[in-house]
Amino acid sequence: MGQRIQGTEDLYGGYMRAWQHMQDVARDLFGAYGFDMIETPAIEQVDTFVHGIGESTDVVRKEMFRVFSGALMDRLLESGSESGLKAKQRMAMRPEGTAGVVRAAVEGNFVPQGGAPVKLWYAEPMFRGERPQKGRLRQFHQVGVEWLGAPDPAADAECIIMLMEFYKRLGFDPSKLKLSINSMGDANCRPAYRDKVRQFILDHADEMCEDCIERAEINPLRSFDCKNDHCREVMKAAPLVTDNLCDDCRDHYAKVKQYLDAAGVSYVEDPTLVRGLDYYTRTVFEVEVEGAGVGAIGGGGRYDGLMELEGGKPTPGIGFAVGFERIALALASQGVSLEGAEPSCVYVACTGADERSAAFDATLALRRAGIRTEADYQGRSLKSQFKQADKLHARVCVVLGSDEVAAGVATLRDMSTHEQVQVPIGELVERVQALLA
Ligand code: HAM
Repeated sequence: MGQRIQGTEDLYGGYMRAWQHMQDVARDLFGAYGFDMIETPAIEQVDTFVHGIGESTDVVRKEMFRVFSGALMDRLLESGSESGLKAKQRMAMRPEGTAGVVRAAVEGNFVPQGGAPVKLWYAEPMFRGERPQKGRLRQFHQVGVEWLGAPDPAADAECIIMLMEFYKRLGFDPSKLKLSINSMGDANCRPAYRDKVRQFILDHADEMCEDCIERAEINPLRSFDCKNDHCREVMKAAPLVTDNLCDDCRDHYAKVKQYLDAAGVSYVEDPTLVRGLDYYTRTVFEVEVEGAGVGAIGGGGRYDGLMELEGGKPTPGIGFAVGFERIALALASQGVSLEGAEPSCVYVACTGADERSAAFDATLALRRAGIRTEADYQGRSLKSQFKQADKLHARVCVVLGSDEVAAGVATLRDMSTHEQVQVPIGELVERVQALLA
């Protein structure tokens, strides 16, 4: 028998309701900010991620699940190399949502030259080949937003303000949330800063791990969040990006902070916050929950160069994504459940086979009126139908016995008070609606 893959989860019952609730909150809140929903394919060409996320990132180098059809796999195993494959044959499961949305925006020309910004949100599973542990899955769910075509620092601030409001609406105590922000500079000032950090790592090579020394050449900024404690200690003395920003980036960052201050959003400036994806420019941010032990519950930033990397015209972008599973865990650690109450229903009970067709008609009429309705399909006794009704959280039970059917009525039983009334069958729907109201 096949088994669920480690690091994946089945979503059903209360957990599914929690995921749906999170999407409902997102739809309401992001809708008020003018965002529309988008869904992109779960598989994309590898190049979409390599160009966008960056060849040297862990996500692309180590964590991307590659996809090959059976026939292609045979060919690959025979030839022992991918070199003969065309770009369209090299596919991967999406490890994150931004690169795919930007690819779609380029292909669909969502932001024509001089056009208005486009605001999109998504709620989708993502796939990363990470070592599974608490809050770290191989298939997880993100709610995210991407705002394309808005260079103004007010857009950065609005994204962050909306994100913090999202957590509040999900039930987080805002005082337990730690929002860290930083500016990563841009194509103008970052290359020189990168070189400084690279040189710093090389100067301290004897104190740093092998990974960091390798990173010095390909992605030196990642050493700021090396998993090795000692490396992070050494990096405390490394040059800070905020001391190396060009005037435009410094000005942009200052304005973002002004807007956040004006909106009363508290944040911590962390000049070592670098994020794991290469597309970021200028503002980056991440949110953690104190004491939850699940890592970041969300993060994002500006990516003004990504549209071009994906083959489009220069178009600024900013966005964020949050992880559903980590949010559910972090809320649970604060004693809050995202699940909401189990839905209630109306239960139609009948006393025997002769009343079955009256029960069938009543069930159908109630459902057609939009009332969640359940009935017995196992020939249970009336007593066990009542028990079943309780289990299903029925608020009203419609009872159809031989006397009721003969008289053209139904007995309505209020399941909390156990009060009963008889109503003409022709008025069933309205009378049930009145009881539910
Ligand atoms: P990210 O920081 O890689 O950013 O992921 C966003 C969130 O997804 C994380 O803060 C975390 O809550 C959740 N997450 C990430 N990896 C896992 C995992 N293996 N298991 C469970 N949850 C996970 C992005 O993905 C960017 N695309 C965000 C963005 C949008 N930036 C701009 N626009």
